[in-house]
Amino acid sequence: MTDAKSPALSLSLALSHRPRRNRKADWARRLVRENVLTADDLIWPIFLVEGENVRTEVGSMPGVERLSVDHAVAAARRAADLSIPAIALFPYTDPDLRDLHGSEALNPENLVCRACRAIKRQVPHIGLITDVALDPYTSHGHDGVMEGETILNDESVTILVEQSLNQARAGADVIAPSDMMDGRVGAIRAALDAEGFIDVQIMAYAAKYASAFYGPFRDAIGTKAVLKGDKRTYQMDPANSDEALREVALDLEQGADMVMVKPGLPYLDIIHRVKLRFAAPTFAYQVSGEYAMIVAAARNGWLDGDKAMLESLLAFKRAGADGILTYFAPKVAELLKKSA
Ligand code: PBG
Repeated sequence: MTDAKSPALSLSLALSHRPRRNRKADWARRLVRENVLTADDLIWPIFLVEGENVRTEVGSMPGVERLSVDHAVAAARRAADLSIPAIALFPYTDPDLRDLHGSEALNPENLVCRACRAIKRQVPHIGLITDVALDPYTSHGHDGVMEGETILNDESVTILVEQSLNQARAGADVIAPSDMMDGRVGAIRAALDAEGFIDVQIMAYAAKYASAFYGPFRDAIGTKAVLKGDKRTYQMDPANSDEALREVALDLEQGADMVMVKPGLPYLDIIHRVKLRFAAPTFAYQVSGEYAMIVAAARNGWLDGDKAMLESLLAFKRAGADGILTYFAPKVAELLKKSA
């Protein structure tokens, strides 16, 4: 249709609404934009490994490395320079240090505690989040202790409380229980308060699903090879949504300062419901498998990696998340800084 007098081209519909007007130019789109992603929304999960000047690649997460404490300090500094408010630490634990009860979790000199002390000393203003769960430390790869095939709840909570105290003493600002045992938030809160850690926050992995998207993470922390069975007796069934609200309600009642939904993108509906219902600080974890999917597709030239990264992160904001744990954190913060 190149004929200028063509009726189709001169036709003007009597439309009362033309939503496209607000999209006609960049300035107009910016003016009506409802959600923005900033560095303040980001939490950077960092993997730790023993040694000095060591960085080892995580095969299933291209671009992500396990860092020895000295490099973790440098990463913390980089995060602070990029205005990323907080980092979250996850240790790779040597199989020799793993046992049935995850005793290394309680060692004041374990990798996470040493990293906490070093980071607090050298980058004092970054928020320091530590993960509470036994899976980096158990020989069976589960988040709690086992008897036969059963993950024992109350016995696990007793140890998780000690693990939390161990991390708080090392300088953690935020304790993040990811274990999904019942009652652990209340028990941790009481123990922290009793030791005078009244300002140490709790970010509860409140609605954490038994997900296939954790695969690369288990690779990163070395549980993939040892994990026996699956985590479906404590992590949530992906089919459930009301149950997530009950889980979040329990954690908030027990004193959680912030709640989390995990994984992220496949569970945006849960983030939205949680934020609407509780109006509490709500975080999403864009997990290892989500990261791996985007990076793998980008590496194949199948999608624009930076655009897909930004779009996926903005989706969390739109769904109602106050912040996102993402392995893209330093990359996206750099991108946002450049475009500012
Ligand atoms: C374990 C834990 C997991 C993740 C964070 N803490 C994995 C699991 O439950 O097996 C997953 C994070 C990711 O996949 O990026 N307590």
